Amino acid sequence: MADKKLRFETRQIHSGYHIDQTGSRGVAIYPTAAYHFRDCDHAARLFELSEGGNIYTRLQNPTSSAYEERIAALYDAAGALAVSSGMSAILLTITSLAEKGQNIVTSPFLYGGTYNQFKISLRKLGIECRIAQHDSIEAMEALIDENTRAVYVESMGNPTCDVPDLERVAEMAHRHDVPFVVDNTFGAGGYLCNPFEWGADIVLESATKWINGHGTAMGGVIIDGGRYDWGNGKFPQIDGPSEGYHGLNLYKAFGPAAFVVKCRVDGLRDLGCCPSSFDSYLMLIGLETLSLRVDHEVRSAWRLAEYCRNHPKVRRVSFVGFEDHAGHVNAKKYFRHGSSSVFTIELEGTLDTTIKFVESLKLFAHMTMIGDSISVVTHPASTTHKQLSDEDKIAAGVTPTLLRISMGLENVEDLIDDFEQAFAAIDR
Ligand SMILES: Cc1ncc(COP(=O)(O)O)c(C=O)c1O
Repeated sequence: MADKKLRFETRQIHSGYHIDQTGSRGVAIYPTAAYHFRDCDHAARLFELSEGGNIYTRLQNPTSSAYEERIAALYDAAGALAVSSGMSAILLTITSLAEKGQNIVTSPFLYGGTYNQFKISLRKLGIECRIAQHDSIEAMEALIDENTRAVYVESMGNPTCDVPDLERVAEMAHRHDVPFVVDNTFGAGGYLCNPFEWGADIVLESATKWINGHGTAMGGVIIDGGRYDWGNGKFPQIDGPSEGYHGLNLYKAFGPAAFVVKCRVDGLRDLGCCPSSFDSYLMLIGLETLSLRVDHEVRSAWRLAEYCRNHPKVRRVSFVGFEDHAGHVNAKKYFRHGSSSVFTIELEGTLDTTIKFVESLKLFAHMTMIGDSISVVTHPASTTHKQLSDEDKIAAGVTPTLLRISMGLENVEDLIDDFEQAFAAIDR
């Protein structure tokens, strides 16, 4: 039965799993760096990409291939590439699209690490990241010019949970003949949101979060929707003679999956940010329970967010599930299954009160993490967004008393009790 016909919950277990000669239920972990060639001709064909197969784990690995196949199936996409972290997924994507002198246009609601990569590291490579004042179509469109090679947003911004109008941003990007790239970390492997359904061309994700789901490995994925026309003259690195492969045209050779092939054969080969087979195995295990975990976490988020909304020591609850959230309408349209297991609260009081609250929590882990089986509280102003200037913090919605909450798999009543005792501790 084709994977496409199977529902998400079935694909998360079956896709990418092929019974091997041992009959093993588990996908095998291949802890190897290199692979035997049959003969010199075979090796040459692999190296010139005229035959597919394993060469060296920096380029591909059978455990990672199973994981990539499962991710592509979950997104109903042309192909996927596993990399060593979410940050490397972003780096490979952008450097495969834009070169020195070119630019990308992005929404301002970005994860702090992405913001730094865009503003500092990519600038040093000569790629300009034009960060719009806000995520309206007009603000982003005004920054596009003939050197723009991508429009970039997060499907749900970190930490504010802002949700851009994905369908309209896609239309705008395509009007300018530019691919639309979405960081779908909050879309949880496509379970809560699949941006390809709304016009995205390339989706990437920090697999460290919901895909792994247990905080046990770092990873990133790049997924190719397979619909973008790379033959529009803007991407000679994809539809043109490849410098690294004796003039091979990747678009003509690999068709709809040309972009992930480009990220693999040039990006991974040259930058080296490949995953280990063990980490890919952990991702496969995580994926098997993805929808179950997310459903539980989202239900708990609703419950704790309601509790916080009625608490006198909470100034504001910012949860996309609630109608007063700026992203609510878009979240309802673009996200399924209750939208999100992450929300933010702003406490009454000061930075000191907020620190006391965080340090009094006993069950919530004080970490910078989301999508973990353990519930997490994060103070963005002192952690994920610390490097930003005060002005940039305000633009990103990060105030001194803001806390980001990511719900885990515990019993939510215990988590509410934990909040209760930490609120009581503020006054002591
Ligand atoms: C939205 C988003 N994108 C990218 C990243 C970076 O991913 P990683 O930590 O796996 O490198 C994160 C990390 O929190 C994130 O939240």
